Amino acid sequence: MKAIIATDEADGTAGMTLAERPQPRPAINDVVVEVHASGFVPTELTWPSTWIDRINRKRTPSIPGHEFAGVVTALGYGTTGLSVGQRVFGLTDWYRDGTLAEYVAVEARNLAPLMGDVRFTVGASVPISGLTAWQGLFQHGRLKAGQSVLVHGAAGAVGSIVTQLAREFGAYVIGTGRAADRQKSLEFGANEFVDLANDRLEDIGSVDLVFDVIGGEIQKRSARLVRAGGTLVSVVGPVEARPADGLAVDFVVESDRAQLCEIVQRVRDRRLRTNIGNISTLDNAVAVLNSTERRTGKTIINIRP
Ligand SMILES: NC(=O)c1ccc[n+]([C@@H]2O[C@H](COP(=O)([O-])OP(=O)(O)OC[C@H]3O[C@@H](n4cnc5c(N)ncnc54)[C@H](OP(=O)(O)O)[C@@H]3O)[C@@H](O)[C@H]2O)c1
Repeated sequence: MKAIIATDEADGTAGMTLAERPQPRPAINDVVVEVHASGFVPTELTWPSTWIDRINRKRTPSIPGHEFAGVVTALGYGTTGLSVGQRVFGLTDWYRDGTLAEYVAVEARNLAPLMGDVRFTVGASVPISGLTAWQGLFQHGRLKAGQSVLVHGAAGAVGSIVTQLAREFGAYVIGTGRAADRQKSLEFGANEFVDLANDRLEDIGSVDLVFDVIGGEIQKRSARLVRAGGTLVSVVGPVEARPADGLAVDFVVESDRAQLCEIVQRVRDRRLRTNIGNISTLDNAVAVLNSTERRTGKTIINIRP
């Protein structure tokens, strides 16, 4: 099968190439899925799981990409809950070969059914950002209606879904980003917007929840804005600053079938808009993923256009 592979950590996305790889076989409780569309988070080539396995052995060449939509073509020994021919979408294991490929083997429990009225490109765009937003807001952030949320990177893949879900659940959203992101953030539902380069973040006063996708100095300044009893949630590694009288949580998104169903149902009934930037073919993917043009939203690789 055709797949994008990464062989050298130092090269980052520039080192990715299109190659011929053996078709995956389903292990116990796996399905093999014919991938129709795949998402890609640019930072994943800096994650250890792209280069080593769970017991620290080198696992290159590895196939990046961990969110996708496609059609089940085979079941592993003992696999239940999904069937051959079924449309599915979801998140694959970080330590296994991923979804920038014509086929992927994945544990069935990591996937959810994708209804026929949701395009594969749309299904592939929501697993990582949707689950990250859901888990950050509701599990780790314990968001309640009426609270205020500072959403960094509100025009980005994760931030745009955080904004929409927080608004749906009755929160007041202050989005942040670059000057050019203002309009897009407001269109996704932010009540107000802070241009991090030109506005003073501290002018927003205090908030109940910070959802951070940036880190560094922005995170440190944001921690000081968390109200007593509030929470700072980070998805960019261990927190660098804690609220004086609140919680700080960093987490890596996990697959969850029930949450995937909640998210895709919102896409179907238009409560949730996806945030797709570029769409590319597999043959053009390496060039597109290495483009220096500023992109906003998720890059989707259409494996079977
Ligand atoms: N822990 C987890 O489970 C998890 C899950 C998903 C994502 N993540 C991480 O979360 C981060 C965001 O992911 P994403 O997919 O949402 O990325 P994305 O689509 O690129 O969104 C990030 C947004 O934040 C903006 N931004 C970044 N730094 C900024 C700064 N200093 N000032 C103003 N705006 C800034 C970006 O603008 P520019 O494009 O102009 O920089 C972009 O609009 C990544 O680091 C990713 O690895 C973690």
